[in-house]
Amino acid sequence: HHIQWDIQSAQKGGYKHFMLKEIFEQPRVITDCMTGRVDWQRKEVLLPELDALPVPKRLHIVACGTSYHAGMWGQTLIENWSGIPVNVEIASEFRYRDPILQEGDMILVISQSGETADTLAGLRIAKDRGINVIGLCNVVGSSIARESDTVIYTQAGPEISVASTKAMCSQMTVLTLMALAWARRTNALADDTRVNAITGLSKLAGQLEMELPRMRSEAQSLARLYSTARSFFFLGRGQCYPLALEGALKLKEISYIHAEGYASGEMKHGPIALIDPDFPTFALALNDHLYSKVKSNLEEVQARSGKVIALANPGHDLKVDHPWILPEAWGPLNAFLALPALQLFSYEAADYLGKDVDQPRNLAKSVTVE
Ligand code: G6P
Repeated sequence: HHIQWDIQSAQKGGYKHFMLKEIFEQPRVITDCMTGRVDWQRKEVLLPELDALPVPKRLHIVACGTSYHAGMWGQTLIENWSGIPVNVEIASEFRYRDPILQEGDMILVISQSGETADTLAGLRIAKDRGINVIGLCNVVGSSIARESDTVIYTQAGPEISVASTKAMCSQMTVLTLMALAWARRTNALADDTRVNAITGLSKLAGQLEMELPRMRSEAQSLARLYSTARSFFFLGRGQCYPLALEGALKLKEISYIHAEGYASGEMKHGPIALIDPDFPTFALALNDHLYSKVKSNLEEVQARSGKVIALANPGHDLKVDHPWILPEAWGPLNAFLALPALQLFSYEAADYLGKDVDQPRNLAKSVTVE
């Protein structure tokens, strides 16, 4: 008899789509990203690529798409832990607005492919102005990697699915390490926070690995209930705001359901007018210092008959339609557990609707032209 196979399905390693395979690779990606970069005994980060440059007076993070969301997420950690002021910008805006770049400033360009035209243009502007460039790339030897003064590789392995998943996870991992590495030099971080962060990082891959199968079945049942919706809000505050943007982007990209990512506190300034029983909200209501604020934002949505799915941690007291409980990690590291839940929700919605998950219409893996 004949054995049916082709190279593509062999490469998918038993998964239906590359996207699903890449989502499930994330525990390994977190581990690979940190290999050789953390002294687990002394609880210190080792990033010689970064130590080769001075500590920036001000950092400009420039990126597109999902990489931009990773940059937004990293901004808070870098500012809070190292005390370095950070400005995050979409590359297509940065390149045309004549940004103020001063002596001692540095630019961090984040790009999975290392070939995105707008991001590369942002890099070149900074270089022309004599500003040091740090590249955070996945593809070794890519244009951005070659033109940066120093490059830090995310070590996520090849990402095939057009919709980016594991790349963001790897960028967030490295950004966490970068924040810790700069904090060591600026002396801005309390010892116990550093120890908690490194201990938290050491547990993360195992926590995610354990949770992924359950996460997928939760995503599957919610996607069945909600993929007929024509529009979705994704809401979050603080470090969950960039995740809300990413959740909305993923849903748009692969399921073609309209989705808006919004800062939940901003809903009252207009968007809440859209809420009705057919316009559901997917919220991030994790156990952080903004939890009670998010909770009351969601009550306002429910008062307008909006249905709410909410990612939350054990012990929450939300009264939403679908609380989706995630295990708790340390502080900001909860993002690493929320991100795959968002990715899986979009994946399951797109697959349920019969969309071409790995090759969505109108999109390219890397946009090398303007
Ligand atoms: C394209 C891809 C996105 C990606 C963006 C930035 O639009 O479809 O998934 O986030 O480019 O790509 P980069 O390679 O620069 O991270």
